[in-house]
Amino acid sequence: MLASAPVGNRRAQPPAVSAIPLRIMDVFEITGGARLCGEVRATGAKNSVLKLMAAALLATGVTTLREVPDILDVTYMAELLRRLGCLVERDIPARTLTIDVPEVPSHQADYDLVRKLRASINVLGPLLARCGEAHVALPGGDNIGSRGLDMHIDGLERLGATVRSEHGFLIATRSARLTGAHVWLDFPSVGATENLLMASVLAEGITVIDNAAREPEIVDICTMLQSMGAQIDGVGSSTLTITGVEVLNPTDHTTVPDRLVAGTWAVAAVMTAGDVTIRNAHAAHLAIVLDKLTETGAHIDVLPDGFRVQAEARPRSVDIVTLPYPGFPTDLQPHFIALNSIAEGAAMVTENLFEARFRFVNEMVRLGADVRTDGHHALVRGRESLSGAPVEAADIRAGAGLVLAGLVASGTTTIYEPHHIDRGYEGFLDDLTRCGAAVIRRSVSDQD
Ligand code: UD1
Repeated sequence: MLASAPVGNRRAQPPAVSAIPLRIMDVFEITGGARLCGEVRATGAKNSVLKLMAAALLATGVTTLREVPDILDVTYMAELLRRLGCLVERDIPARTLTIDVPEVPSHQADYDLVRKLRASINVLGPLLARCGEAHVALPGGDNIGSRGLDMHIDGLERLGATVRSEHGFLIATRSARLTGAHVWLDFPSVGATENLLMASVLAEGITVIDNAAREPEIVDICTMLQSMGAQIDGVGSSTLTITGVEVLNPTDHTTVPDRLVAGTWAVAAVMTAGDVTIRNAHAAHLAIVLDKLTETGAHIDVLPDGFRVQAEARPRSVDIVTLPYPGFPTDLQPHFIALNSIAEGAAMVTENLFEARFRFVNEMVRLGADVRTDGHHALVRGRESLSGAPVEAADIRAGAGLVLAGLVASGTTTIYEPHHIDRGYEGFLDDLTRCGAAVIRRSVSDQD
């Protein structure tokens, strides 16, 4: 009974008013069961374009970037560049971004933006090279020398910089031009390789970065730097040799396609026994991922500008081990946990880069998945089906994994905090809808 009349001599009470203010938020709501069929186009890579934007700081004048995705991280990075004194203009329909860099950019990146975008640490190298100093707020949880930034710092120090932490800022300075040096990275860190590349292109003499990352996004930034006049040998290998030049020129560069977006669609096609063609994608950048999908029973055709993924039955489970490129990408690990959770058989997923990524497993368990983790291993036993439930996206890739799980779960899956997914996937829901999925974005209050 919802409404009650006064009983006996008791007086009617006014309706209870919650002391907690109402919070309105977006959610994704997915009704599972559709077979995805159609054609999609991958955008330019998020993980590349943010670094290309930072690289523009290395030359005075107007740099044009193309195939820039319409995602929030680009908006944050553009704002960061504006605060450094650049004039940034974006033509979203044309997917272009121009950055007009002043002769002397400012050198301070504040916490309010850095906390939203960890990739803002990538302005450290170019600002140090251009301005002689860089003050970049420390991303939350990171201290100088701790896990996360030690290789950036050690490498810059080898090039002659002094780096210290003060009042929540990482402060890098140089008293003279940076000097080329031999840097051995303990681990092929993507971010450290990029920062050292951007610092060394303007250093005096030769820098060798050994055990460098080899991701397609590293090749992309090397190609852009070369078109600005940088001298880099060994692009695509684990030894990069940079001969410093005095000045770089602005350029016009097209961002490499996003292999993680393309990979997400490939897994979605397999999980839904669908048929999806992904354009503007390089199959070679996903060699190990597509090979694993073939092992699940899917059929893959490589096309001149992408690839087509077709699947007809329940996938077979596949083991994966994440490693730096060309190994299996950690950013597609949640997707393969989702895939294995409905596959035939059991699979071991080993995460070697970010252990915290397994937090996503708790949300998969809410959807009925059978996953047990032990350290950096997850044992996934495939179930015939998952059952829709409310879940929360903790980061971009975990969010994408939950979308995939929701596509095959029975009933409705509600994904909270979907803004994480928006950070990496332009127009995701529109594309999913065009391919036949039942998925909407709606606003709810936290008391719904
Ligand atoms: C980039 C990608 C991210 C991807 C990752 C690995 C962007 C914006 N993000 O992140 O999506 O998952 O590469 O492919 O491009 N480490 C240290 N010390 C350092 C640097 C890194 O210990 O100085 C550790 C990290 O904590 C992590 C591992 O090395 O455990 C890999 O990190 P890294 O390759 O640097 O990743 P990011 O550049 O942060």
